[in-house]
Amino acid sequence: MRKTTGGGFGVSCLSALALVAGLAIAAPKPAAAGGSVEVLHWWTAGGEAKAVSALKDQFEAEGGTWIDSPVAGGGGDAAMTALRSRVIAGNPPSAVQLKGPSIQEWAAEGVVANLDDIAKAENWDKLLPALLKSVVTYEGHYVAVPVNIHRVDWLWANPAVLAKAGVAVPTTWDEFNTAAEALKAKGIIPLAHGGQPWQDATLFEVVVLGLGGPAFYHKALVELDDAALRGDTMVKVFDQMRRLRGFVDPNFSGRDWNLATAMVINGEAGFQIMGDWAKGEFLGAGKVPGKDFLCIAAPGKGFLLNSDSLVMFDVKGADKIEGQKTLARLVLGETFQRTFNTLKGSIPARQGMDLADFDACAQKSQADLTKAIAADSLEPSMAHEMAVPRSVRGAIMDVVTAHFNSSESSAEAVAHLADSIAQAR
Ligand code: GAL
Repeated sequence: MRKTTGGGFGVSCLSALALVAGLAIAAPKPAAAGGSVEVLHWWTAGGEAKAVSALKDQFEAEGGTWIDSPVAGGGGDAAMTALRSRVIAGNPPSAVQLKGPSIQEWAAEGVVANLDDIAKAENWDKLLPALLKSVVTYEGHYVAVPVNIHRVDWLWANPAVLAKAGVAVPTTWDEFNTAAEALKAKGIIPLAHGGQPWQDATLFEVVVLGLGGPAFYHKALVELDDAALRGDTMVKVFDQMRRLRGFVDPNFSGRDWNLATAMVINGEAGFQIMGDWAKGEFLGAGKVPGKDFLCIAAPGKGFLLNSDSLVMFDVKGADKIEGQKTLARLVLGETFQRTFNTLKGSIPARQGMDLADFDACAQKSQADLTKAIAADSLEPSMAHEMAVPRSVRGAIMDVVTAHFNSSESSAEAVAHLADSIAQAR
């Protein structure tokens, strides 16, 4: 693990040695104020791109040079493949969007920078909620800076479309199924969905939480308890997944998540189940929460947490190291947290901020998060890499997607799920 202050030390040592030896060495190229940073991320949809651009603007206003390295693909699977090849080639980007156990996995490989100095100077210990601190530290050292708090278990709805079919806001999966049938009978697509493994996994985990509750979710998708994975509740989860399959349109396969959101925005579909990055799309289209669209906590009593962080990789050169420090400082700053999260649909990772200016969905998210922490019903998202290693998540996604796209029975899917997880562990 490299300390972000290491580069400066290296340069001054070199100069001192040169003086002692009486040698004239060329003065090191002065680093741009703010330094330079290359950021690898997958924030390419409308609201996400605006949010990144706000960070870029703030970074450049500090005199820094921003090199943008977006890798399109919701959920970040393509970005992770790109990251691995950059690290193997010995040329990692300076900062990378990463989450959950992946942060620990990269830190364990010894390829990330240590951010303790900046964390101390900026008082991160006080600014971060305990739940995020454990995500961004490795063996007691800060290796990442959290950007946001996203909630995954949301149901997005178009109220005008619901009204057309005389449908009320559902609070249980049975009510959801009844509402979806009513929409279908009116020729409206009930559920906007994109058939990509991470989106299928997003539906799945929301149903697991909704039908099983937080304790079951934890046993099954965090502890990977074999009995929970093989039990009756999981059979019911796959039954509900089969119902959901009947509520999507025939062109769902491969569709990007933001195009599914657009179907709700333009009234083609009634609902979408997606994390609150979807809100960035509604807002970007000029839609008003509570009027043009609804953010409804998906049936279930809990809160599925997803939080993006930026991990600084071990790069060489004073300019790059300065850039990492500037970026880390900006990201947890109040200005950035407010602008970025308003555009992105998330809520701040920084504690103690006044959310009065945030919209009603963000305020609900914050209130439900506080309640969930108190009730011990806050759960990490499996689909969004907060809960289990990538290999296990991959095994779960394969089973869920295979079931969604076949006529496999729930009992078969359950056996398949438990066996695949056992093999991937
Ligand atoms: C999530 C990520 C979000 C958003 C979403 C869609 O995994 O945490 O920030 O980018 O994927 O790509």
